[in-house]
Formats: sequence, C-alpha cells, structure tokens
Amino acid sequence: MPERSITPLIVVALLLGTIFALRSLNPPSVAPVPVPSAPVLTPDKVPLVTGDEPIAEIFTKAGCSVCHTVPGIPGADGRVGPPLIIRVTGPVRLADPAYQGHAKTVHDYVIESVLDPGLFVVPGYPAGTMPTWYGAKLSALAMEKIASYLERQGGNAAQ
Ligand code: HEC
Repeated sequence: MPERSITPLIVVALLLGTIFALRSLNPPSVAPVPVPSAPVLTPDKVPLVTGDEPIAEIFTKAGCSVCHTVPGIPGADGRVGPPLIIRVTGPVRLADPAYQGHAKTVHDYVIESVLDPGLFVVPGYPAGTMPTWYGAKLSALAMEKIASYLERQGGNAAQ
C-alpha cells in the first residue's frame, strides 16, 4: 500500500528533475541582439586633409567612407549616412520645405552639410551623427574638391 502512493511521487519528482536538467542544459536565449550603432569617429583619428591628396584619399583620410557610400571611391561603402549622390539628392534637399540652411546651390549645400551638419538633417537618417568638427580638419582646398566632386555624383554623371 505505501509503495502505491509513493510511486507516483517518484515519477513526478523524476519528471521535474528531468525538465529542470534539460532547461539548465538549454537555457532560454535572452541575450539581446546587438543594435548596430554608428561608428564613432573622433577628431584625433582624422589627420588634417590638405586637399593636395588624390580625391579618393581625401574621402578616406577624412573618414567620410566610414559612414557614406561615395560613387567612384573604392571602399567608400558606409551605410550610416545617405549615399552621396548629391547631383540627384542636392536639389531635393534645397527644395525641401524643412530646409532652413542658407545654400542656394548644390555646391554650397555640400559645404554647408559638412561644416554645419546640424542645419539640416536628412530625413530618415540619425541627427547628431555626422561629425561637427570637419571645419578644423579640412582645408578650404579639400572642402572645395569634395563639393566639386560630390555635386557631380548620381544620375548619369556618376563617373
Ligand atoms: C560618423 C558618420 C559620418 C561621417 C564620418 C560623415 N558623415 Fe556625412 N552624414 C552622416 C549622417 C548620419 C548624415 C545624415 C544626417 C544629417 O543630415 O546630418 C550625413 C549627411 C551628409 C551630407 C548630406 C547628404 C544629403 O543627402 O543631403 C553630406 C553632403 C555629407 N554628410 C558629407 C560628408 C562628408 C564629405 C564627410 C567626410 C568629410 C562625411 N559626410 C562624414 C554621417 C557621417
């Protein structure tokens, strides 16, 4: 008689033990999937860009390539900021009712975007991510070459 009442208890205990053991072998995966964050680019990582460098080197030296895809620049395949097809996107930005900057030409829009990126944040992209210290890193010549190059990228003139 006592055996009869003990047996189910043993079975339950064994079952619980097995479930517990299996659970600890296979813990539920609660590790959060890491959210890709913007690469951190600090001024000390960027040397002065004189503008005497070949155009591709200007973009890579300045670190633009980390965050932007730039047509014609090898390795410039960043996805944090918009692709720099400014010949196409520049006029769209200037016509955006939310645009509060001072540029009247696409060329000046590029310069403004680099030197004062907070003036207009491209819709769909994170604010406060584009570095604000490029004025201290890019010579006037480098800035000019960047603007002249980018205003020709996109559409049919993307060479
Ligand atoms: C750490 C990432 C990062 C780096 C480095 C960076 N940018 Fe940006 N850039 C962004 C993001 C994000 C935006 C979009 C949000 C905004 O408008 O601020 C942007 C916007 C721009 C725009 C406006 C684009 C448009 O479609 O209207 C231009 C032009 C630009 N960047 C040029 C450059 C150049 C040139 C360099 C290098 C000298 C550079 N960026 C370096 C992140 C970056």
